[in-house]
Order: sequence, then structure tokens, then C-alpha cells
Amino acid sequence: MSEIDGRIAEALTEEQERLSHEFPIDVYDPAITSWESIKGDILNAERAQFGENAAMEDELRGFFHDPEGVTVIRKDASTGKVVGFSTAGPADKAYDGKFHPQRISSQLASELSDSREALLPIQDRDGKTAYVHDTVLDPNFVGRKLVVGLVATLEKELAEKGYTYLDRDAAYDNGYAANVSKTYTNNGRLIYQSQPHGSVWGRQVYFVIRLPQVDK
Ligand SMILES: CC(C)(COP(=O)(O)OP(=O)(O)OC[C@H]1O[C@@H](n2cnc3c(N)ncnc32)[C@H](O)[C@@H]1OP(=O)(O)O)[C@@H](O)C(=O)NCCC(=O)NCCS
Repeated sequence: MSEIDGRIAEALTEEQERLSHEFPIDVYDPAITSWESIKGDILNAERAQFGENAAMEDELRGFFHDPEGVTVIRKDASTGKVVGFSTAGPADKAYDGKFHPQRISSQLASELSDSREALLPIQDRDGKTAYVHDTVLDPNFVGRKLVVGLVATLEKELAEKGYTYLDRDAAYDNGYAANVSKTYTNNGRLIYQSQPHGSVWGRQVYFVIRLPQVDK
């Protein structure tokens, strides 16, 4: 068993093991599962969670079909319905060819004294960086820890694809950012978290996370 599999196995509690049967997780492959067959569930979950700020179909389809990215989906085994997904791709691409200026600016630099690593522009870091575009569960399936296996699988796949870092934003006001912070502080992989910054989705916290290591 590789180191990464060992860590994931550790994280898979009995509850997560049970959930993985009731709600299996797949790495999305458009050659196996057509976008047409899942887009209804994906768009419903996205719109139910984000309303008028939901991502458009074209954008989501682009994320799901990005050969450099990774998308994982979670289904309800009893109905076949997709109940959640998480999608990530190359961070430099997500920021339109360059790291988001405000995230390496003097503003960020002044917040940081002990996390120099997070300050480096993506292309100067010692490994590839992925950015989490979106993580969503259908509201009827929230609060059952279904996100845990989803994110663990996303991270494993990204690491196996050669990524070293994961950048993401998480909403501040509803406590998601606190959950993300707690999760990665506890597992020792949190490199940096910003102060809350404004966005169309409300205040968000930006995180730089180290992905698990994979055996080479
Ligand atoms: C955020 C969301 C995916 C959480 O899903 P969930 O499975 O219902 O999460 P739960 O509340 O059951 O939390 C399960 C555990 O995962 C942790 N967690 C929650 N979100 C996490 C994330 N994005 N990454 C890692 N861990 C996370 C929680 O801290 C909690 O840990 P604990 O068991 O140690 O307390 C879901 O509420 C959602 O779809 N929200 C709307 C969309 C959104 O804002 N997405 C961005 C989230 S940052």
C-alpha cells in the first residue's frame, strides 16, 4: 500500500466505509459517463446551493472535461442520482495564466510572516498547484459527512496526477472556511489561510494546502 493510500485508509472511518457503499465515489471520465447523463443532477445541486451565483453549464462542463483537471462525483447507489461533486484544475489556468494578483500582492505579503511558501507565484513553487473550482452537495444530502470522501479522493487523484499543492477558497460567513481550516490544521497540511476577502459569493477565505505525497 502506498503512503497516500495508507493515509486515506486511516481517514476512512467505519462511517466513511459505510458511506462509500451507499454513496460511491467515481473519478469523472467523460469517455465513460456522458455529461448529458449527469448534467441535470449537477446543475440542480449547483443552483440549489448558489442561486443566481451558480456556475453556468458551459463553465462546469469545461471543468469536468479538462484533461489536466480532476473531478469526482458521488452518487446515491439506490437511485443512481449524483448527489455531489468536487472539481479542480491547474491553478495558473484558473487564474487566467497568472496567479491572482491580490493573492501574491504586498497586501498578502504583509499578512504573512511565517508562511513564505504561500507567497510564491504558482509557477515558482516547487510543484504543480491545483485550484478547487467548486465543491457542492445537493442540499438534501448535506450534513452527512459526504464531503469527506469526496475531497480525499480528489486530493489522491490530484497528487497522482503530479500536483503538490491545492489552493481553494471557502465561504466564511456560513462556517465552511472554519471547517476547511480545522480539517487541514488537524492533518498538518495547511500552509496558509488568508483573512476573509470579498467575492460575489460573500466573504471567503483563501487557503494553500499541501497535497498528500505519492510514492514515485
Ligand atoms: C460544504 C459542503 C460540501 C459540506 O458538505 P457535508 O458533507 O454536508 O459536510 P459536513 O457538514 O457533514 O462536514 C463533514 C466534515 O467535513 C469537514 N469539511 C466540510 N467541508 C470541507 C471541505 N470543503 N474540505 C475538507 N473538509 C471539509 C467538516 O469540518 C466536517 O468535519 P468533522 O466531521 O471533523 O466535523 C456542503 O455543505 C455544500 O455543498 N455547501 C454549499 C456549497 C459550498 O459552499 N461549497 C464550498 C464549500 S467550502
